[in-house]
Amino acid sequence: MELRIEKARCLRGDISVPGDKSISHRAVMIGALAEGDTVVENFLAGEDCLSTINCYRKLGIDIEGPRGGVVRIAGRGLEGLREPDDILDAGNSGTTMRLSLGVLAGQPFFSVITGDNSLRQRPMARVTEPLKRMGAVIDGRKGGSCAPLAVRGGPLKAVAHISPVASAQVKSAVLLAGLFADGQTSVTEPHRSRDHTEVMLNYFGAALGVEGNTVYINGRPRLTGKKIRVAGDISSAAFLLTAAALVPGSDLTIRGLGVNPTRSGIIDVLEMMGADIRKLNPGEDGGEPVADIRVRYAGTLRGVSIGGEIIPRLIDEIPVLAVAAAAAEGETEIRDAAELKVKESNRIAAVARLLSGFGAVVAELEDGLMIRGGYAPAGCFCDSRGDHRIAMAAAVAGLTAGGTTVVDGAECIEVSFPGFSRLLESITVK
Ligand code: S3P
Repeated sequence: MELRIEKARCLRGDISVPGDKSISHRAVMIGALAEGDTVVENFLAGEDCLSTINCYRKLGIDIEGPRGGVVRIAGRGLEGLREPDDILDAGNSGTTMRLSLGVLAGQPFFSVITGDNSLRQRPMARVTEPLKRMGAVIDGRKGGSCAPLAVRGGPLKAVAHISPVASAQVKSAVLLAGLFADGQTSVTEPHRSRDHTEVMLNYFGAALGVEGNTVYINGRPRLTGKKIRVAGDISSAAFLLTAAALVPGSDLTIRGLGVNPTRSGIIDVLEMMGADIRKLNPGEDGGEPVADIRVRYAGTLRGVSIGGEIIPRLIDEIPVLAVAAAAAEGETEIRDAAELKVKESNRIAAVARLLSGFGAVVAELEDGLMIRGGYAPAGCFCDSRGDHRIAMAAAVAGLTAGGTTVVDGAECIEVSFPGFSRLLESITVK
């Protein structure tokens, strides 16, 4: 599918975006392991989260929906999953695969999990290695480091895992496996990654502790089904917020957004670049902070240098941040982001290719990007190569570019942001 984008006069609107992808996945998984019903409102009906629902149905869990944004999960407790009679398919979703590996590691049965062509290339040893140390037997392609992966789960022992990467998927897989271990399991990361698993497990009744970059969980808790309303996905909103910060005359409000500080690095960086962003009506849902965010165009943005602890707080937003950087005054340097190479595509290479197509000067670094600001973008042809966030970043660049931009392979946007092009159209003044 092709998406055609014309230069926008400005962006205006008062909208909401679909539910958070990370939280929606976790609601299904933790709901399945809890006792009793979990009802999830504003569930993200994107392909990734539908893959999670399908996997847990195959594991014997009754799940209704999504219907009108609502999903009902009939949780069966920590011992309630059943051996699937076929292969589990995580589709394009790293979160489905990595977090489920943690769950499967603790099950007294055999399972196999696979995914699409992109997911089957992505590194899984970062998850299977600690799970094997906990006692699971896991094998797969490339010496057990790539899917399809076969898991023979069983009784687990608690470990103290030191992760070389700041990754919520690694941390969550080990914490979920820790539910099935006796004693205390811990994960230490170089920087703190998103903490939705911790927040939700705590909300469902597990005992967790945090000390610096280490999270502890006590095994064998009793989890109880809950009602949750999923906040709007800040990673989806990021495309529209950045567009509004870039296009003169824009004024955009997005309601009910998740603003968990482990996710809101994009707001901090857009502010550092000079954007006018206001946080309104702060509240909380299921332990997750929520607010309305208003962004008004406030002049040309300035380049920034970012690296270190902020990177995991905006890792999925780097493609669109790079689009902002190319339009900003001065240079932008993004470091400590080598993880971008193992996302749905190699996003360092993909962003460099994308921005060069629009006429920007970009250098790929081992762990990030250098972007010379101040380009005069010309509409061009962009190939998403199956990466949803590259497709949406291309659309945002197209809003500022002369002529027409064509985003090819735009169907992958359905992975995380169903309705993106309609919503963008509704706030674009031509
Ligand atoms: C996610 C964690 C991040 C992020 C991904 C979703 C999650 O991945 O990029 O889109 O829901 O836990 P890593 O943990 O691999 O950094």
